[in-house]
Amino acid sequence: MRVLAIDQGTTSTRALILDEAGIRLVHSFEHQQIYPAPGLVEHDPEELITNLVACLGAAPEVDCVGLANQGESCLAWDADTKTAISPVIVWQDARTANVCDRLKSEGAETLTLERAGLPLDPYFSATKLGWIVENIPQARTLLAQNRLRLGTTDAFFRDRLTGEFATDPTTASRTSLLNLAILEWDPELCAMFGVPIEALPPIRSTTGALGSFSNGLPLTASIVDQQAALYGHGARNAGDAKITFGTGAFALTLTDRLLRTPGVLPTIAWVEAGKPPVYALDGGVYAASSAVNFARQIGLFSGFDEINRFDAEPAIARGLAFVPALAGLACPHWDRNARGAWMGLSLDTSKTDMVQAVLEGVAFRVAEVKASMANIAGKAGPISIDGGMSQNPWFCQFLADVLGSPVLISHEPELTALGCAQLAARGAGDEIECKPTGRLLQPRDIPAHWAETFRSARESVQ
Ligand code: G3P
Repeated sequence: MRVLAIDQGTTSTRALILDEAGIRLVHSFEHQQIYPAPGLVEHDPEELITNLVACLGAAPEVDCVGLANQGESCLAWDADTKTAISPVIVWQDARTANVCDRLKSEGAETLTLERAGLPLDPYFSATKLGWIVENIPQARTLLAQNRLRLGTTDAFFRDRLTGEFATDPTTASRTSLLNLAILEWDPELCAMFGVPIEALPPIRSTTGALGSFSNGLPLTASIVDQQAALYGHGARNAGDAKITFGTGAFALTLTDRLLRTPGVLPTIAWVEAGKPPVYALDGGVYAASSAVNFARQIGLFSGFDEINRFDAEPAIARGLAFVPALAGLACPHWDRNARGAWMGLSLDTSKTDMVQAVLEGVAFRVAEVKASMANIAGKAGPISIDGGMSQNPWFCQFLADVLGSPVLISHEPELTALGCAQLAARGAGDEIECKPTGRLLQPRDIPAHWAETFRSARESVQ
């Protein structure tokens, strides 16, 4: 069997083929990141569709297609013309921070935590969809005509390219509109966020016969990219965990049931056709490689090979900490107003010290996420990592040290596409298993006061 996986991520749309020989990249298209004002991040829906169509055309000789989508990013479109009436409002977009603050002050977080398992944060789709209904007049016109469609990007792509208006439970679990216990849209949450429930897509399984594209290829998996990566990392048992280091760092751990633990997000890992849901815990750090890129932009270093090793002991050992709250703090603090900072600067602090502290700060934030995961993450074995920062050996060893867990650096860079393709094969009734391989790092003992120094720096930016 040959499977086409399309990984529609935050910065690019990529086509990859998986067959018995392994996975290989066929096409990759970057798209524009649109920043209309500080805190606002948008994508052009038509640009994404163009890139998806190009990816679909890139590999006609396949048996089925899997689609992985960026989580939470959402938009509105016209049911009749399938034309978008809003930009894609990207998961990073914070335009609804004030709405979240207001709802929080009204005590609404109790309901979102109870039903959707999520805190109130502009990260999730609900307030973004409510913003569209309130601020784009055409949305209300279409609503009155029963033609408004609201959803995450997968639902738009599927409606437009397969003619089936649907989403999957993993993506739905990122909206804050899903009742996690029954996997249905929650009428009270929808009403609270001002999202007309009738405009939302039906929720279907992650895998199975999900429709076909105009070239006849069947869509047999549709899933959020982070969950796809979890599958691609080989996570099959409770406790299996992965961390993907992209723009942000996203940690997911499989759980044996719907588990709620403060500050961490209970989420759906996947729901295969005809099978019970598989659950996970999710925790994100908003700024990971974006923090490293920030350090580069402001001139702390120029080439990535410069930060693969440091001669000095860790900056934290010298009292220098960086809090990578450049876009606020996500799991487990959920504080959009927090901002990044170096703490402990002195007259002899060098640029190298500052960038070393940036890498360390990302690792410390990820350790906070792991610590919040009820001691489950990595219980079953090493924590598997991938993404750009996993190519930095110094960072990986420091990460293992502060996590206090063995870390497996995946040899396979395309884990989102791999997991998506594997699930698509299963959705088509086949199986392509690949044993995950990587380089194992053991943690070294580090002084407990390092984490304390970071914690007090982090608390001071909140
Ligand atoms: O929650 C956001 C996440 O799905 C984005 O992942 O890989 O598209 O940056 P990525």
